[in-house]
Amino acid sequence: MLGNVYKVLKNCDLVHSVAEDVINNRQTALDNQEPSATSARKYLDFLDILLTAKDENGKGMTQLEIRNEVDTFLFEGHDTTASAISWILYSLAKYQDIQEKVLAELNSVLEDRETDDLQWNDVNKLEYLTMVIKEGMRDHCPVPFIQRQFTKDFELEGKTFPAGTSVSIQMFGLHHNETVWEKPMEFIPERFSKENVAKMDSYQFVPFSAGPRNCIGQHFAMIEEKIILAKLVHRYKFELDPDHTPKKNVAAVMRSDNGIMLRISNR
Ligand code: HEM
Repeated sequence: MLGNVYKVLKNCDLVHSVAEDVINNRQTALDNQEPSATSARKYLDFLDILLTAKDENGKGMTQLEIRNEVDTFLFEGHDTTASAISWILYSLAKYQDIQEKVLAELNSVLEDRETDDLQWNDVNKLEYLTMVIKEGMRDHCPVPFIQRQFTKDFELEGKTFPAGTSVSIQMFGLHHNETVWEKPMEFIPERFSKENVAKMDSYQFVPFSAGPRNCIGQHFAMIEEKIILAKLVHRYKFELDPDHTPKKNVAAVMRSDNGIMLRISNR
């Protein structure tokens, strides 16, 4: 037990030191007005904003406050997309016809190109891949639930939940609820066609949560997923390992207890 605690603390130290290095390097660049510092660039990025932010009394954020924000972004931004991409690849391996359609769309967008590097304008052209990604996030739900605590008494359908009550919002459950979705256990990318999306309730598909604290990185995440999946499917064929079935582990981020094993071959 103590060994595990030690391991967690040691790993936290490593993660903190990575974040601190990034922060310190940027602070030095800002102090020395190096070319990478904000004034020489067109846009401020997230770290510039944190490092230069001041409150109404002219006080900036402490090192620890900045590191906490950087940690949040590192983890919210990494494990989530890694889970989404891995589970979507699993579905593409399972449904070869869908993988073929993704490939056909990519081939038509990349026709006559020398490389398979996607251009910014290509991202919006990949409509079928977008539907596959959304269906993957409905079915596998990379963040399967979120939690809240009531800060004041809350009434719902005649019942009062006292302040302090903890609640879980089960997005995975919602995404598989038969009263909300037709054939929820089937993988059907077409349910996310433009016409079908227009008819959906705005709270029936919420992989990035909803409301004022929804995911800050959702547009970035969708683009990252598209670019990575496009490149992978364009270069490799993914097939299931017939001897392996991943066992979903509903944690803060959707994992597999026994990994996701796929067979990968060059195209
Ligand atoms: C498939 C990928 C992703 C999924 C499924 C996802 C999902 C979510 C969800 C469900 C929340 C709400 C959490 C809650 O209400 O308790 C959230 C919040 C957040 N996400 Fe994401 N996320 C993804 C990618 C990203 C990326 C790439 C970034 C940053 C680069 C990011 C940054 C954040 C941050 C900072 C919050 C907290 C926002 C706040 O509390 O106001 N996420 N995300």
